[in-house]
Amino acid sequence: MKPAILVARAIFPEVLSRLEEYFEVEPNQDDVVFTPVELAAKLKGKVGALTTASAKINIELLQQLPELKMVANMAVGYDNFDLAACTTHGVMDSNSPDVLNETTADFGWALLMATARRVTESEHWLRAGQWTKWRYDYFLGPDVHGSTLGIIGMGRIGQAIARRSMGFDMKVVYYNRSRLGTEQEAYANNAEYVSKEELLRQADHVMLVLPYFPASHHTIGEAELALMKPTATLINVARGGIVDDVALIAALRAKRIAAAGLDVFENEPKFNPDFLTLQNVVLTPHIASASEATRRAMANRAADNLIAGLASGKADGRPLDWLNP
Ligand code: DGY
Repeated sequence: MKPAILVARAIFPEVLSRLEEYFEVEPNQDDVVFTPVELAAKLKGKVGALTTASAKINIELLQQLPELKMVANMAVGYDNFDLAACTTHGVMDSNSPDVLNETTADFGWALLMATARRVTESEHWLRAGQWTKWRYDYFLGPDVHGSTLGIIGMGRIGQAIARRSMGFDMKVVYYNRSRLGTEQEAYANNAEYVSKEELLRQADHVMLVLPYFPASHHTIGEAELALMKPTATLINVARGGIVDDVALIAALRAKRIAAAGLDVFENEPKFNPDFLTLQNVVLTPHIASASEATRRAMANRAADNLIAGLASGKADGRPLDWLNP
């Protein structure tokens, strides 16, 4: 008999078909976002699950699921997993890294350009029928070319963002848990390693690309926003919770920074509605990796992980992107 798995959210039909070759699959093509109680009920008797960041795999859930052996996230981020609890319960975890690096970097740039050059704000104004003449000072914003880009979180996506800045003649400063090697720094547009505070003081545009974990909670709060230039922009393509959204709203409202571009929010999708009252913010619904090809690649990578971990026919099958220590 094939091992039973849950695909916890809707997914590309061809990926479902691939999984069905190896597993007894319970799909969720209606894309119901399960409550913790519903998720536990759906996972009863399953050995594996393909999840997205909306599924919390924590100790309360694991205690109810002695048969569960593996959870594969269709995401590079895995802050929805309690990794230590999974390890204790013998549950293997995987994510879907790398396949989304370039697409997410493209989107970081899209948000940066839209935010600095006020693309969505001016489009809303035009659509509202307010465009009656050209004026020298309509929608002035900071330049992107020739400016200083500060990247917090210089992993593979951060480095891909830095490489793109070469075409804009930018200086790159970065802050990361550990410093990159000399060759990596050179490849990332000669990025210069600085403290977080120095980065916030120097950067014209601050880009957040770090993973969420308890120590990165509110990496950007009131104190950090106060260090930024009043002309600076803040771009978040990382995770909600890395920015203190209440502090950011206050800073944007008081024009303590020029603008922000946000793809992720605290408590998303129920984000702070005060953002909607501000003109100087570009808001997108967590779509940084959402190119057709990349989302397919992420889904396939999550499926590859489940197949390697649970259907290899070997007792010591392991996911390709195995996360447990
Ligand atoms: C990721 O891969 O972590 C994206 O943010 C989608 O969740």
